[in-house]
Amino acid sequence: MNVAMRSACPAAPARCGRRSVVVKAVAAPERAGTVNVSRNENFGKLRAGYLFPEIARRRKAHQEKNPDAKIISLGIGDTTEPLPAYIADAMAKAAAGLASREGYSGYGAEQGQGALREAVAKTFYGHAGRSADEIFISDGSKCDIARIQLMFGSKPTVAVQDPSYPVYVDTSVMMGMTGDHNGTGFDGIEYMVCNPENNFFPDLSKAKRTDVIFFCSPNNPTGAAATRAQLTELVNFARRNGSILVYDAAYALYISNPDCPKTIYEIPGADEVAIETCSFSKYAGFTGVRLGWTVVPKALKYADGSPVHADWNRVMTTCFNGASNIVQAGGLACLQPQGLKDMYDMIAFYKENASILKATFTEMGFKVYGGDDAPYIWVGFPGKPSWDVFAEILERCNIVTTPGSGFGPAGEGFVRASAFGSRENILEAVRRFKEAYGKGAAN
Ligand code: MLT
Repeated sequence: MNVAMRSACPAAPARCGRRSVVVKAVAAPERAGTVNVSRNENFGKLRAGYLFPEIARRRKAHQEKNPDAKIISLGIGDTTEPLPAYIADAMAKAAAGLASREGYSGYGAEQGQGALREAVAKTFYGHAGRSADEIFISDGSKCDIARIQLMFGSKPTVAVQDPSYPVYVDTSVMMGMTGDHNGTGFDGIEYMVCNPENNFFPDLSKAKRTDVIFFCSPNNPTGAAATRAQLTELVNFARRNGSILVYDAAYALYISNPDCPKTIYEIPGADEVAIETCSFSKYAGFTGVRLGWTVVPKALKYADGSPVHADWNRVMTTCFNGASNIVQAGGLACLQPQGLKDMYDMIAFYKENASILKATFTEMGFKVYGGDDAPYIWVGFPGKPSWDVFAEILERCNIVTTPGSGFGPAGEGFVRASAFGSRENILEAVRRFKEAYGKGAAN
């Protein structure tokens, strides 16, 4: 309880010439070890810990129970293969340069080094009309998605693909854009169901208008890549409704299907509605190195006509000090001819893992999706709760997967297998799956 106390000037009033003053004293918190600050109530709405640390916790518990088990992770999409020497050398050189007067640099531009912004614009968006000053270099797509929410505040309404990368929903909850969890999903979020029946593209004729739409293609977790016709429908939907589309393209280079665009800006009119996030994580093995970018076109304007670009610049200059200068040297190397070749080789390697896994599950009689244009395989276990399947696979095979329901209500009955792993581990995982589930196990 706050207590108002009358406090006298320490010197006699006549001498200090001041009247007694009212000082607010704060009573000690009623419970030891607590402060007198209320919790952000939105955090109380979150159901559990973030998905991947929760999986890591269960993996640890399993390892403790089975100390000799050689656990293989097909869970979090974490790259496993060493960095290409050309890219690592560029970072080593930049790091060594910092020890010399000529090579030293301190703070850089919060938006990223000019040469890297130019290279990203030219390499990925040359055909789609984006310029270097629309590219903002960052420490990754996930962090940018959280920072993007700062621009929107707590009022906007939000739609997500269901299932989808949990960061979209969780940060919306943290921002206060949603109501409570109703046992299935969060009140106030428009869950756009993506399942085998609609070919993993939402029925937009039934979707409610929202201010913000998060959309990921190729989709994490289903592995489905949207076609040009589908993305045209999505952009037109956003334009008709005056919505902002936050388009997560973190896996775009995994697309093989020529009918699936690698950036939303290939779609006419997207520059007036879409922000695109992307990352070097899954292209160059930078999950630990950390480097990504966000594209905010200058043509994208709020209802009052003010440019979103200016607000994003304000967010980045305020909340971010620029990506590491060493890491940006690595990013620039990725976009040179040798680095590009190395990145495409790495992507091809993980895609081959994806084909091996997909073929295995198909052969065993499961319904399997994704894996052709993405590093994720989406396997159906109809009628079974995803967390039970996760636990069963961990118990029987010592393999970590990701339960589909962790990505949203429509993910129930599926598990996701990630193709990020050494070839040795992928082949060993295949052997264990076959041993445990055998041919026709899904029937
Ligand atoms: C995933 O497994 O969904 C991703 O790797 C997680 C991430 O990129 O943050």
